[in-house]
Amino acid sequence: MDFRYAALTREHAEQWQSLRLEGVRDFPVGFMVTAKEAATTSLERAADILAADSTRGVFTDEILAGFCGFRRSQLERLRHRAELGPFFVTARFQGRGAASVLMSGVIEEARAAGVEQLELFVDTENTRAIRFYQRFGFQQAARFIDSVRIDGHSHNDYFMTLRIAA
Ligand SMILES: CC(C)(COP(=O)(O)OP(=O)(O)OC[C@H]1O[C@@H](n2cnc3c(N)ncnc32)[C@H](O)[C@@H]1OP(=O)(O)O)[C@@H](O)C(=O)NCCC(=O)NCCS
Repeated sequence: MDFRYAALTREHAEQWQSLRLEGVRDFPVGFMVTAKEAATTSLERAADILAADSTRGVFTDEILAGFCGFRRSQLERLRHRAELGPFFVTARFQGRGAASVLMSGVIEEARAAGVEQLELFVDTENTRAIRFYQRFGFQQAARFIDSVRIDGHSHNDYFMTLRIAA
């Protein structure tokens, strides 16, 4: 399948919002936001979030197959780092290369922008995501105890990092 990496902008608000609601519902461990919280995001608010230029997407034809947050600090002392997440590909396109195109696109863009370290948090039980990140060279830098509580249940995260210095 052909997948295309692109920055998401205001015009993608509807597609992004719908994919985000699906992700939050089907893969709650992949998101910080609850389904209830995500449902209260208006289209205008979704457009404003995308306008901040911190979300990237992967498309097949004009269909949004997945997205990920990509945040760089403006502070001089932190400019070498960028944070990824949430990272989500819709079930229909999982295992089909969309996630790899998205991750490769982010890595290339980050490297070109002078970022030297990518960072993310992943639930310690999310073995598929961990395997995916490891394939790109991410390493477990720390274990974060009681990082998220989902429906009252405590979850732990790995903090994972990838060095991408040129
Ligand atoms: C995480 C995600 C983006 C990865 O995309 P994907 O298309 O599923 O990834 P791939 O198929 O390329 O790679 C997944 C890897 O996990 C393996 N895998 C598949 N199912 C697995 C399972 N149940 N347990 C462990 N590993 C599994 C695959 O074999 C593959 O490893 P390999 O490259 O060594 O063969 C996608 O699964 C997703 O959106 N998941 C839901 C949201 C989520 O959890 N996001 C991460 C939040 S931090």
